[in-house]
Amino acid sequence: MQRAVISTFVQQELQDERTGHDFYHGQRVAKLAEQMLLQDHPAATRANRDLAFAAGMVHDTIDEKVCAQPAAELVQVTTMLQQAAATASQIADISFTITHMSFSKNIEQHYQLSLTGQYVQDADRLESLGAIGIARAFTFGGKHGNLIYDPAVKPQKLTSHRQYRAHQETTLNHFYEKLFHLSALMNTPAGKKAATERTEFMKKFVAQFLAEWQVE
Ligand code: ADP
Ligand code: NI
Repeated sequence: MQRAVISTFVQQELQDERTGHDFYHGQRVAKLAEQMLLQDHPAATRANRDLAFAAGMVHDTIDEKVCAQPAAELVQVTTMLQQAAATASQIADISFTITHMSFSKNIEQHYQLSLTGQYVQDADRLESLGAIGIARAFTFGGKHGNLIYDPAVKPQKLTSHRQYRAHQETTLNHFYEKLFHLSALMNTPAGKKAATERTEFMKKFVAQFLAEWQVE
C-alpha cells in the first residue's frame, strides 16, 4: 500500500476538524496500532502492518461526529484506497473496521473486528486516555457547549447509542460514563497495558480536579 497517498487524503479531509479528531489523531492511531501489533506479534506481515496503518489513518474521516455524509465519505475512502494499491480484501477489512469500531456503536452489541481492526480500535481508545485523552475530552466538551463539571448532574449508566448522544453531559462525568471503563474493554495485550497506565494518570487528574473544586 502507498502510505503517502493515504496520509495526504486524510490531511485534506480533516483539515477543518477542531475537536480532537484531526489529522494528527489519525496519524497517532495509525502509528500506535502498528506499533502495538508488532509488540504482540513481532512476525506480523507487511500486509497486516499496512492494514493497521491504513485503517488507523482513515478511521475518523467517516465518523458521524466529524463528517455530515458518512456513507458518501466511505465511497471516497474506498476510491482513495484503490489508488493507494490496496487489494479488494484489504479494502473490505478496513471498511468493516472503521464502520464498526466506535464506542457508541458497540454499546448495544459487540462487533468482532479482524486482528488488525482490534489494534486500531485499541489505539483509538488509548487516544481517549492519558494526557491526550484529557485534552481531547475538554476540547470536545467545549465545542459541544458542555460544562467542565456540575456536581448536580450525576454520571449515568450508558444504555444505548441514542441516550449516549442525548443525555445531559459534563466533561468530568464523561470520565465516569465512558473513559474509566475503556481499559477493561481493550482487545489486545499491548493495548490493555497502555490503557491501564493511561487510566491511572487520568484518575490522578480527576482526584486533583475534585480536590481543587472544594473551595471552603
Ligand atoms: P467513538 O467515536 O468511539 O464512538 P466517542 O463518540 O465517545 O467515541 O468520541 C471519541 C472522543 O470524543 C472521546 O474519546 C472523547 O475524547 C470525546 N468525547 C465524546 N463524547 C464526549 C463527551 N460527552 N465529553 C467529552 N468528550 C467526549
Ligand atoms: Ni478516533
